[in-house]
Amino acid sequence: MENKINQFPSEIIFYGGTGQAKVVRPIVEYYGSKLVAVFDDSPNLEKPFQDVPLYLGSELEEWIKNRKELELGFCVTIGDPHGRARIKLHRELEGEGLSPITLAHPTAFISKNAKIGVGSQIMAGSIIGPEVELSQDCIVNTNANVDHESFLDSGVEISPGATLCGLVNVGVNGWVGAGATVLPRIQIGSDAIVGAGAVVTKNVESGQTVVGIPAKPLKDSEAQK
Ligand SMILES: CC(C)(COP(=O)(O)OP(=O)(O)OC[C@H]1O[C@@H](n2cnc3c(N)ncnc32)[C@H](O)[C@@H]1OP(=O)(O)O)[C@@H](O)C(=O)NCCC(=O)NCCS
Repeated sequence: MENKINQFPSEIIFYGGTGQAKVVRPIVEYYGSKLVAVFDDSPNLEKPFQDVPLYLGSELEEWIKNRKELELGFCVTIGDPHGRARIKLHRELEGEGLSPITLAHPTAFISKNAKIGVGSQIMAGSIIGPEVELSQDCIVNTNANVDHESFLDSGVEISPGATLCGLVNVGVNGWVGAGATVLPRIQIGSDAIVGAGAVVTKNVESGQTVVGIPAKPLKDSEAQK
């Protein structure tokens, strides 16, 4: 798999009009692309950018029909923890003929032999270590550290300032909260959540939320509903 990072069509749309859209826009503009529209499914969402039109997701098909430009890139700018939505929208938008973009902030460090899946987003100051593999639609947020030989399955999000030590494995749609530390060789199951600031010393089961130091399961977490 060859990484196609920061190789964007000249025009791009975002799907998702909140915080992730704000942090991704400067990156696509830095690499010379133009954000031409934002789509979101929330009818009452305030426009994230005054100079870019906001549409409902249901208007996308019609909007695409009226375009003249041939190639259009897209980024699913939905974080916290909606990896499965990113994966689904990625598939749908590609089905409409749009091209997924894979991006990294210019201050992120990505090891030469790391593999970065299509649709992934790597934010400012983050570090992707040697032999790390990110599957599609992952987010590695500001100042996060994914160390050597770790593997992130599709739709995983690593929040700002979190550290995955070496050989950590995170399942589909796993979410590691801000500032958390995951010790070497830990396995985090799919749809699991690691709370902000946690130190994970034991494997986390699929669908489980863990918090604290050392991290312990949180019963009936709202975040998973
Ligand atoms: C773990 C988390 C998902 C739980 O959310 P939730 O299910 O809505 O849980 P609640 O807020 O109802 O809290 C339930 C209990 O867990 C505690 N708790 C919640 N998050 C905690 C954390 N990160 N560390 C320690 N305890 C935590 C609460 O104090 C509360 O305890 P109490 O019942 O004794 O009052 C959430 O708190 C969290 O840490 N999210 C990560 C946020 C983040 O990093 N965002 C990144 C932004 S880019």
